[in-house]
Amino acid sequence: MKKCKGFLSALLVFVLVLVVSGCGQDAGGKGASSDAKDEGNGKLRIGLSVSDLTLERWQHDRDFFVDKAEELGADVLVQSANGDEAKQVSQIQNMISQDIDALVIIAINSDALTTVVDQAKAEGIPVLAYDRLVNGTDIDAYVSFDNVRVGEMQAEYLVEKVPTGKYFLMGGSPTDNNAKMFREGQMNIIQPLVDKGDIEVVGDQWAKGWDANEALKIMENALTANKNDIDVVVASNDSTAGGAIQALEAQGLAGKVAISGQDADLAGVQRIAEGLQTMTVYKPIKAIAEKSAEVAVQLAKGEKPEADSTVNNGKLDVPFIKLDPIKVGKENIVDTVIKDGFHSYDDVYKNVPEGERPARP
Ligand code: GAL
Repeated sequence: MKKCKGFLSALLVFVLVLVVSGCGQDAGGKGASSDAKDEGNGKLRIGLSVSDLTLERWQHDRDFFVDKAEELGADVLVQSANGDEAKQVSQIQNMISQDIDALVIIAINSDALTTVVDQAKAEGIPVLAYDRLVNGTDIDAYVSFDNVRVGEMQAEYLVEKVPTGKYFLMGGSPTDNNAKMFREGQMNIIQPLVDKGDIEVVGDQWAKGWDANEALKIMENALTANKNDIDVVVASNDSTAGGAIQALEAQGLAGKVAISGQDADLAGVQRIAEGLQTMTVYKPIKAIAEKSAEVAVQLAKGEKPEADSTVNNGKLDVPFIKLDPIKVGKENIVDTVIKDGFHSYDDVYKNVPEGERPARP
């Protein structure tokens, strides 16, 4: 009889365990409720897929984003693809399987994520494109700067310094939708002056992965092909400007050829302070990162973020939360990136003789 009683009580315990664990699996899960919670600690979980962390700015983006999202009560799962498109796709698929409540993507290739974003949407996960648009799929929001305006600012600054002459166009990554928007803005300013005969475009290349070494090689070839007769380089960001300036230095032309940039990387701003780079475009990274974290948390809660405009991504008009870029030259470094706390005065002017530095803020 004991054996039988023992067997029955063991059976009862086994059935109870089955019933309890079965209920646990139904709770939570994506789309289960507007405030879907991670079963672990009751917090919303956001997946952040970063194209790479080699370029200085993305390290700042990640840090500001995570801080803000955690301040808003969410956990963030960060994965960097180190510039590898296939790796970014598999990392996103992995995140989708980890019960995230929203997905944020800094795309390597704006046109290569359609399938994986469709998968996220099919799982009920809202998707935010961070700084770089994701094309051909139903993304929920796009947070970036006015990238056409960035290109216009670069060209406006250069044209003001060098209104006539031979211009070389150093584009960014050909797979980054932003690179095309920067070029659109640049040509808005340059094309009318080409048509007038004031400016001659002597070359136009695109630096794969925004890589400084790619830019170095492109610039070396451009100088050879033009027998060093180049007056301006329209570089679309600071890393490619840095590579181009290395090539110019080798020909004794650094500081003599005007060159633009973008991102206000420390190295870029130092070059401006030292007279080697003409300008950069500062896009307050804290602003885009914190705004994106706010929007991601809203999406994770099933809320609709407010957008001041839309941009078509080849499939739909995406709500576009657009932030304002800032022109930075030698004359306003202190009033912008230093006053903003993005770089310190001592770091920026470390290679500039004391007597040639502007007043400390
Ligand atoms: C672009 C971004 C630029 C710059 C560049 C290099 O997409 O808008 O600000 O960071 O990538 O990574």
